Amino acid sequence: MTIPDRPFRNFYGRIHGKTLKPHQRVWLDEDLPRLSPGPVEWEENPDRRPLDLAARFGDREIWLEIGFGGGEHMVHMAQSNPDVALIGCEPFVNGVAMALGKIRHAGVTNISVHPGDARDLMELMPDGSVARAFLLYPDPWPKARHRRRRFVTPDSLNLLARVLKPGAEFRVATDIPDYVRHTLEEVPRAGFDWLADAPADWRQPWGDWVSTRYEQKALREGRVPHYLTFRRRAQ
Ligand SMILES: C[S@@+](CC[C@H](N)C(=O)[O-])C[C@H]1O[C@@H](n2cnc3c(N)ncnc32)[C@H](O)[C@@H]1O
Repeated sequence: MTIPDRPFRNFYGRIHGKTLKPHQRVWLDEDLPRLSPGPVEWEENPDRRPLDLAARFGDREIWLEIGFGGGEHMVHMAQSNPDVALIGCEPFVNGVAMALGKIRHAGVTNISVHPGDARDLMELMPDGSVARAFLLYPDPWPKARHRRRRFVTPDSLNLLARVLKPGAEFRVATDIPDYVRHTLEEVPRAGFDWLADAPADWRQPWGDWVSTRYEQKALREGRVPHYLTFRRRAQ
């Protein structure tokens, strides 16, 4: 089979970290195939056929978490919303292994995992197929001159806007002031309204929030979380 060249996509994060423990390798081998949302990788879907999400998830509402890290928030949300199908994306294999341990431990059955770049998944999702999306502490690239390395770019946001239903909620958490500014500029341009009336709306976490590993690190290091809520505009 000839695999076409995939389009160039800059990815500025880490894919591998510490050597995986033997039990983590077992989780990756045993659990990932079962948790897959469908054929996303280029090797398994070179024609880029759209995913049949209805066949995979039935009529359940689909939520998407981009860059779930160790999976704290994803597992918590899946546990507290058992009727939802939550798809998480994370290219950092050590994070994926950590999350698989949490999924096993919690016994949740409504999580699906794409162990790769969220953009590869989103391009295969039908229009308006996602009811809620989370981008929690994306790799920050704090310097303004590195903005184009960030996940929040017109390309990623246009993909996300297409797969979100009109009216869908999009939550972004960040502790980097320039990322706040940048997000507030770019996300509305891609077809979202920022839902904030008063400072409490971005200073206080969402009512169903659970703090993530990265947020804990940010707090230890004296940085201030911002919680930004957007709504996908109707066309
Ligand atoms: C700073 S960490 C935060 C992790 C987690 N959300 C948390 O709050 O602890 C950012 C994560 O986003 C992931 N990431 C970066 N680019 C991504 C992409 N294109 N698709 C999916 N995940 C991505 C990174 O691998 C990394 O684990």
